[in-house]
Amino acid sequence: MCGIVGYVGEKQAQDVVIEGLRRLEYRGYDSAGIALVDDGAIASQKRAGKLANLEKAIADAPLPPSTTGIGHTRWATHGAPNDVNAHPHLGGARRVALVHNGIIENFAELRARIEADDHVLLSETDTEVAAQLLELQVESGIDLTTAMQRVAGQLEGAFTLVAVDGHDPSRVVAARRNSPLVVGLGDGENFLGSDVAAFIEHTRDALELGQDQVVTITRSGVEVTGFDGSPAEGRRYHVDWDLSAAEKDGHDWFMRKEIFEQPRAVADSLLGRRSAEGLLRLDEMRLSDQELRDIDKIIIIACGTSFYAGMVAKYAIEHWTRIPVEVELSSEFRYRDPILDYSTLVVAISQSGETADTLQAIRHARLQRSKVLAICNTNGSTIPRESDAVIYMHAGPEIGVASTKGFLTQLVACYLLALYLAQVKGTRFGDEITEIIEQLEEIPAHIESVLAGADAIYELARSQLGARSVLFLGRHAGYPVALEGALKLKELAYIHAEGFAAGELKHGPIALVEDGMPVLCVVPPLGRDQLHDKMLSGIQEVRARGAYTICLAEEGDDRIAPLADVLIRLPRVPVLLQPLLAVVPLQLFACELATAMGHDVDQPRNLAKSVTVE
Ligand code: G6P
Repeated sequence: MCGIVGYVGEKQAQDVVIEGLRRLEYRGYDSAGIALVDDGAIASQKRAGKLANLEKAIADAPLPPSTTGIGHTRWATHGAPNDVNAHPHLGGARRVALVHNGIIENFAELRARIEADDHVLLSETDTEVAAQLLELQVESGIDLTTAMQRVAGQLEGAFTLVAVDGHDPSRVVAARRNSPLVVGLGDGENFLGSDVAAFIEHTRDALELGQDQVVTITRSGVEVTGFDGSPAEGRRYHVDWDLSAAEKDGHDWFMRKEIFEQPRAVADSLLGRRSAEGLLRLDEMRLSDQELRDIDKIIIIACGTSFYAGMVAKYAIEHWTRIPVEVELSSEFRYRDPILDYSTLVVAISQSGETADTLQAIRHARLQRSKVLAICNTNGSTIPRESDAVIYMHAGPEIGVASTKGFLTQLVACYLLALYLAQVKGTRFGDEITEIIEQLEEIPAHIESVLAGADAIYELARSQLGARSVLFLGRHAGYPVALEGALKLKELAYIHAEGFAAGELKHGPIALVEDGMPVLCVVPPLGRDQLHDKMLSGIQEVRARGAYTICLAEEGDDRIAPLADVLIRLPRVPVLLQPLLAVVPLQLFACELATAMGHDVDQPRNLAKSVTVE
């Protein structure tokens, strides 16, 4: 949700900012804009639509050279995605330019106050209000840093603000509350970005900021304070991936690249998790064994794809540890007054570590004295920082808006958590845990073999070009996979798609089945006979009503063949690990069908990768 870039240094700020926006465009693509400090004034340009529109506008009307600038790519909240509402917003005297991510909740009251003083606001946005307030402060004779401290302290809600003052090319100043911002530390130059992708080609040294902080970057330094001006410090860290990880590497889409990266991503997320004695070790586990033994309930909270990873995790954690697990959408969690105490472990799953619904949910849980463990991919993000423990997914940057390797590595992290709890609580023998870890270590090779069949899945996807509605069926751990397959298709192909627990079909959803309707069925492994039999009954029921059945079933499952119009084979693995393989053909299917329909797979309409407003 909204990408923000800031730069001060020796290079042309326009080049750095536009390149940064290109790398952040997955965060929002309703509009894009840039502002540069130009000899005592602000030069700016902004356009509705994708970054390419902004680049064209700049090509038609070039901006002056400048080494200080800010930029923004927007996912609209307040106001339609048009040129006027695009960021940056300027104060009335055009001295201060500001970009913003988040929502300023008390903006109506602030707006009324500004308008009462006869200042005219041009847009419908909450951002322009902040720009105007900031400008009034600097016009009173104080520097931009002090002005930002004063303004940020008046704002309510979630925001990252990044601003420049036309009279002061030496600095870019930002404030953050509940919204992402990291500093890139360069040599003779410094950067601001919603995430490190904004500046990864310039530096891999970053500074994580805390809550309610103001940061000032100049060529030679970085200064962090609280909103009250008191000195503060960020946490320095080194980014463990480089520019090549943020390139498409010959693929048409980031999503496709990320699907094919999954064997490596899964291998990386398993790396270094076992001690010399063979015991499972989670380095970022900051909860003591005693605290873990005291846990008598787990609540998993997450959104979107991460929620489906949480649903799979429930099966694994309950089976291996016998601890009861609830899975809940982050956006619903705190509003139902959940029963929480010190013996409840809340597991927050978030690829980005910035999803506002999940962040607010973990804050609620901690207020109720529950321990929070984050499963996250993004070092330096807010959710792990505010959690008691964290398991990093080590997937590398995920740029395609539709999550793929994020999902698989979330699953791996959940399995590791489940096994770790089993080890600490003694609910599984050591050799059982070792056996499962060894099975997990074979997964990358199995994913490779699923990916080797991509061409057949692409052909299948293209054959479904006219489909208006697609159903996905699964049982047990295959049920969340069905939900995730349907979500992928909705997100990318904009086709009506729904996932169902196959057993529930007969209680209503079967009424949707029409002649020729594609139904994708995730068939449980043969070893789970009862589950397998019941799934076959469900498939028979939809076939009897004319469905076109596309079945994902393990090698050697001969009973499925007569029931499948199309059969996609999966390597044989235990039922709890099958989601790691079964979801891959569904990702390929959605990606290819959306491509064939001419959609932008990396930037699907109306979506943003990281949703930092509730
Ligand atoms: C957005 C994205 C989804 C993602 C969800 C949760 O809705 O479009 O792909 O699954 O956020 O994101 P998180 O970063 O918390 O995992």
